Amino acid sequence: HRHLLGIEGLTPFEIAGLLDLAEEAVAVNRQVEKRRSSLRGRTQINLFFENSTRTQSSFEIAGKRLGADVMNMSVASSSIKKGETLLDTAATLNAMHPDLIVVRHHAAGAVHLLARKVDCAVVNAGDGAHEHPTQALLDALTIRRNKGRIMGLIVAICGDVLHSRVARSNIIALQALGARVRVIGPSTLLPRGIDRFGVEVFRDMREGLKDADIVMMLRLQLERMNGSFVPSVKEYFHFYGLDAEKLSWAKPDALVMHPGPMNRGVEIDSDVADGAQSLIREQVEMGVAVRMAVLEALARNLPNSVPA
Ligand code: CP
Repeated sequence: HRHLLGIEGLTPFEIAGLLDLAEEAVAVNRQVEKRRSSLRGRTQINLFFENSTRTQSSFEIAGKRLGADVMNMSVASSSIKKGETLLDTAATLNAMHPDLIVVRHHAAGAVHLLARKVDCAVVNAGDGAHEHPTQALLDALTIRRNKGRIMGLIVAICGDVLHSRVARSNIIALQALGARVRVIGPSTLLPRGIDRFGVEVFRDMREGLKDADIVMMLRLQLERMNGSFVPSVKEYFHFYGLDAEKLSWAKPDALVMHPGPMNRGVEIDSDVADGAQSLIREQVEMGVAVRMAVLEALARNLPNSVPA
C-alpha cells in the first residue's frame, strides 16, 4: 500500500505482518541506542488539526528513531487560521517534497481527500469518527503480547461507540484477527445498525462483560456531541463507568485498556486505570513501536527518485 488510511482494506495477513514488524521495534525501543536508518534522508510532516498527546508525540519519536527529518506543523499558528483550505494546505506542503505526511483531522474522510492531492505517503492519525488505524494496531499488539493470541478472545468495547474512530478501527482489526467483539453502551451512544458489523451488542455492563478477556473503555467524547447527548456524568459512571465491581463481572484474568486521554471518574475509576489488570501504560509504549512499523512499511514503497 502507498498510504495507511484505515484498517479497512488491510488483510489479516497484512495486519499481522505490521504487528510482527512492531515487535522488532519494541526490542529496539528498549535498547539504549535506539536510532535506526530506514527513513534517513526522508522528510515526515505531522499535520494535526485536532489535539493530541499520544499520537503526535509517538509519530514524532517514531520518525526520529528511524532517522527521518520530522516537522510538526503547528496548525494553531499556521495560515489555516487565515482561511487557507485543507487542500491548499496540502498542495503547499506537497511542494516542499515531503516523503510522509501524518494527518489528524476532525472530519471523517478528510485524510482520504488529502491523500489524493499529494505525491507522498499519507498516514491517517484519526479522521473524525471514522478511523484511527494505528490505535487499532497498537491495541492489537498489546493484546497479542499479553494474551499470546487474539484468535478466539472476547473483547468488550464499552461506552461512547457512536463517536469513536478507535472503536471502528478496533472492531475491523480485531475481527480480522479472529476475536469475538462486543460493544456495550447506552442506545444513545451506539451507532444505528452497529450489529451489521458482526459485533454482539449489549446495553447492560454485567451482561456484556460476562466472560470478557479484554475490557476496552472509550472516552465520552463530549466535543463531538453538539449537545445531542449531554449525560449526567454521575449517572453515566453509575451505569457504564468501569470500577472494580464491574470489572469483577469479566473473566478473573481480564485485562483493561483505554486509548487515552482518560476521564477518570467518568468512564473509568482510578483504581482500575492504575490497577494490576490495566494495560494502559503498555498501550502507549506499543504506540511508538507500531508507528515505527507503519512508517517503515510505507518507506519500503517510497520512490527512490524524485519526479522531474
Ligand atoms: N489515543 C489517542 O489518539 O490519544 P491522543 O488523542 O492523545 O493522540
